[in-house]
Amino acid sequence: MIWRIVLNLVNVNELGLRYDDNWAVGHFNVHNLEFARGVVTAACENRSPAILAVGMLSIKYIGLKPLVAACRAVAEESDVPVAIHIDHSRDVELVRRALELGVTSVMFDGSALPFEENVAKTKEVVAMAHDHGATAEGEVGIVPHGTDPVSEKDMTDPDMAVEFVERTGVDLVAVSLGSIHGMKTAGASLDQDLLRALHQKIKAPLVLHGASGVLDEHVKDAVANGIRKINVNTGLQVACKNALTAQLNASPDSGLLQDFECGIAAIASAVSKKMVLFNSVNKAA
Ligand code: 13P
Repeated sequence: MIWRIVLNLVNVNELGLRYDDNWAVGHFNVHNLEFARGVVTAACENRSPAILAVGMLSIKYIGLKPLVAACRAVAEESDVPVAIHIDHSRDVELVRRALELGVTSVMFDGSALPFEENVAKTKEVVAMAHDHGATAEGEVGIVPHGTDPVSEKDMTDPDMAVEFVERTGVDLVAVSLGSIHGMKTAGASLDQDLLRALHQKIKAPLVLHGASGVLDEHVKDAVANGIRKINVNTGLQVACKNALTAQLNASPDSGLLQDFECGIAAIASAVSKKMVLFNSVNKAA
């Protein structure tokens, strides 16, 4: 484990999150080296812990091994704690390979499975993660994608969530409170009463997915009401794409590296704003 301490590469339990301390760590999806660099630059500048998250589409795009290696290489240069996380895996074997490559945190997404199957598979992943000194996240309730509205039945049931955490031993649990994955502009609000009830009953850190689409004041309230990890993907992609488009239009003859630098700066700036919103600035131990 020595190399992890030296490199500031930690699991999510080691990021300093506390049940009663109202700040949340940002989970930022990274798709290439430039995203990893942008996130870690913001983390160091803000003295904020951060999570580099690797999702299924990004693995399909560039490969699990190169993407984890890119995250590790950038995390090695960080002087604040960083975790490397596998996001929304539905494949236990992929989780195993990722742990062998050195990720420090994994999510098994069994939210679409029948409850008993979700419990059984998540439990298997938790054991595997803990064997590697990594943390594991599960999900109860469904956070939909795209334009699907959140229905009442998709929201997390508190009793079910309590049972899920007890039976699986997950370190973190993702809950459905009204957010939707993949929104390009913020418009969603969250059920803060439901969140308060979940926080009161569950001591494991609660995770908000689909945060790009949630109104800032609702994110702020969610942190005050018990959310401790916040997942952001689409918002960073939008920020990067807008910056690249502006750069390419303004300087069509610029060198490609100069264009990529604009993308990295836009990602770092968007991540910094989220760190302020999540109250994670200066929380690095
Ligand atoms: P957004 O793309 O909506 O920010 O969601 C990110 C997410 O929840 C990743 O797990």
